[in-house]
Amino acid sequence: MGKHVHIKSFGCQMNKLDTALVRSALDEAGFSLTEKVGDADVVLINTCSVREHAEQRVLSHLGHLKHIKKSRPDLVVGVIGCMAQRLGDELLEHEAVNIVCGPAEIPQISELITKVMQDGKKSLAVTAGIRRKAPAERSHALEEFEAAYGIEDGRIPAQAFVRVMRGCNNFCSYCVVPYVRGPEISRPPEAIIEQIRKLADHGTRQVTLLGQTVNSYKYEQGDKTWSLADLLGAASDINGIEWLRFVTSYPSDEFFDEIMQIMADSPKVCNYLHIPAQSGSDKILRAMNRNYSCEWYLELLDRARAVVPGISIAGDFIVGFPGETEEDFQATVDLLRKAWYKNAFIFKYSPRPGTRSDKRLQDTVPAETKQRRNVELLAVQEKISDELSRDFLGRRVKVLVEGPSKKAHLNSADAADNPQLAARTATDYIVVFNGPESLAGRFADVKIIRTSPLTLFGEPV
Ligand code: SAH
Ligand code: SF4
Ligand code: F3S
Repeated sequence: MGKHVHIKSFGCQMNKLDTALVRSALDEAGFSLTEKVGDADVVLINTCSVREHAEQRVLSHLGHLKHIKKSRPDLVVGVIGCMAQRLGDELLEHEAVNIVCGPAEIPQISELITKVMQDGKKSLAVTAGIRRKAPAERSHALEEFEAAYGIEDGRIPAQAFVRVMRGCNNFCSYCVVPYVRGPEISRPPEAIIEQIRKLADHGTRQVTLLGQTVNSYKYEQGDKTWSLADLLGAASDINGIEWLRFVTSYPSDEFFDEIMQIMADSPKVCNYLHIPAQSGSDKILRAMNRNYSCEWYLELLDRARAVVPGISIAGDFIVGFPGETEEDFQATVDLLRKAWYKNAFIFKYSPRPGTRSDKRLQDTVPAETKQRRNVELLAVQEKISDELSRDFLGRRVKVLVEGPSKKAHLNSADAADNPQLAARTATDYIVVFNGPESLAGRFADVKIIRTSPLTLFGEPV
């Protein structure tokens, strides 16, 4: 029997997609996958560097694995992902770690594991000069890996993620992503479309297109320039695909109107836009190297709402960026009130080594102030989310069922064969209702009977 591998993902959707690719590559290479660390011969950790906290979680997990290795010295531990790329050698020195492999090197993962199992030597595969244009062989290897293993992950039935771009060129001053994921590259449209077609043939109903600035997807092909709108159009024509999403968008003019237009025109393109503002203060936005003003950003949301009535919009904010005064923070609260998001993700500024803000600016805002601003912003958003959710009371919505609900909610399972299911609307609202588990991966009509800020509760109709 093949060796057992356990993989754990600590990062964003991009990171989870890499995990899915690695899982499927290892499966094909003859490894068995296991959910339990206790059964594993190999443990892989897919890591994130976006905030210090994300890295700390990984380090504490490695501490745990070091302990396990005392009684099981043959256990192979591999660290893959953004933190592997950022720390390289330093991480390889960790007592628990056998393999360090950056995101652009994952096509080698099964060879790296096999080699360590044979010779017991530590192994490093990170990309030197990651900001340089990738040599043809590496791009080719990544494309092939993606095409061969880009199958439905199976964790959420009938749903899949498809990368349309790699890397990022935006260099927001606080952000580590460009340094660990390399320059922005759009994948060829035919490779993307072919992948979606294959997924559809295997039963995928919803595809989420992924990119750090997904709306800036751009691929020149002869006289034609492909935009994200063109991709969404082509993907809409694929039989079997019912819903299409894309994340994350950067507030930018280029292609914006055509993307909103295809959202309005195609019933398959979900009316949902995740478009982080990061701050409501123009001064802070400049220091963040985000190339827009608050006023322009809010106008952009108006433009989206004018073309796509009922669109639901989500955002991200960083509180406590260096130099953020009380006045700057109040400007962010103001923007949040005006933006009328469905939900917002709020993060406390975390200085990342190597980024411009870390090199040039002092992390001046005290931890307690960051915490207070975080809580205050969340409270404002919660009221807005609550109000938006209440609009759903009594309404019928179409949802795609994900599976059994992970959290226990108040209307708990009324029978073993009728558990609580978690589902989502096209506009990304989470809906919990009781139904048979066989609904997972299928569409259902649900009537909303109760609401909370982030969850709608319903009954099947
Ligand atoms: N490419 C996406 C997402 C990047 S990371 C985008 O540009 O929207 C996801 C979120 O993490 C960002 O939107 C930002 O709000 C937050 N983030 C990134 N770097 C951070 C840092 N150093 N400290 C705190 N939050 C950060
Ligand atoms: Fe980071 Fe900015 Fe790129 Fe997003 S757009 S990944 S925040 S540099
Ligand atoms: Fe994602 Fe974290 Fe890397 S947000 S791209 S896993 S640094």
